[in-house]
Amino acid sequence: MLRLGVNIDHVATIRNARGTPWPDPLRAALLAQSAGADGITAHLREDRRHISDADIDALMEALTLPLNFEMAATAEMQAIALRHRPHAVCIVPERREERTTEGGLDVAGNEAMLADFIAPLREAGCRVSLFIGHQPAQIEASARIGSAVVELHTGAYCDLDTEGRHAERDAELAALREGARLAHSLGLEVHAGHGLTYDTVGPIAAIPELAELNIGHFLISESVFLGLDGAIREMRARMDAARAA
Ligand code: PXP
Repeated sequence: MLRLGVNIDHVATIRNARGTPWPDPLRAALLAQSAGADGITAHLREDRRHISDADIDALMEALTLPLNFEMAATAEMQAIALRHRPHAVCIVPERREERTTEGGLDVAGNEAMLADFIAPLREAGCRVSLFIGHQPAQIEASARIGSAVVELHTGAYCDLDTEGRHAERDAELAALREGARLAHSLGLEVHAGHGLTYDTVGPIAAIPELAELNIGHFLISESVFLGLDGAIREMRARMDAARAA
């Protein structure tokens, strides 16, 4: 079955807008679990704009689902990950001025640095995941440095869909399919995420090599209308329907 990882970053975004203790990301994670999430993703950004160090402490303490800890490849984040030893560590590129993670990691251009960076995380027992584009050079480099997982960036596919650029969207989807096939053939576990919605999730969920999708912003947005439980159940149903078809 295709796993659903629920990203709770934007529960923290709403909380931080007012500096109150609510809404609590841990409460959202526990609710996501009862709604059928298979894992929780949280990104501790260098500027702590949403998830805080205390959120990671609380998630590690109370969560029974696997935590996918997203972070940039910095010494500070590596030390935090080694202290907590979450189930998975997803390395993402990070720029302070960006609104969200805009592109994939350049593994091919930083192969030696990333190999050294992930080695202690692997030794600590974390499943290392690299958030990359679908380019074969990035996938091959990820396999060479011993990453267990690659997460393919679906942001461009989703943006092209929203903009109604259907021919380009379909080309991007075909490239994601090819990327998933290549990554799987190299022994990598393949995940995907970024920007997914009820409208865009189906064709991605139907890619047979994918083991997990990570979805956040749309689920938190939709929970304003449906509640978090309803939003997650609807996403899960669409994923399962796409897989079954
Ligand atoms: N996967 C990764 C690696 C991400 O950085 C993000 C965004 O934090 C997501 C998935 C989820 O993206 P979205 O919030 O757009 O669903």
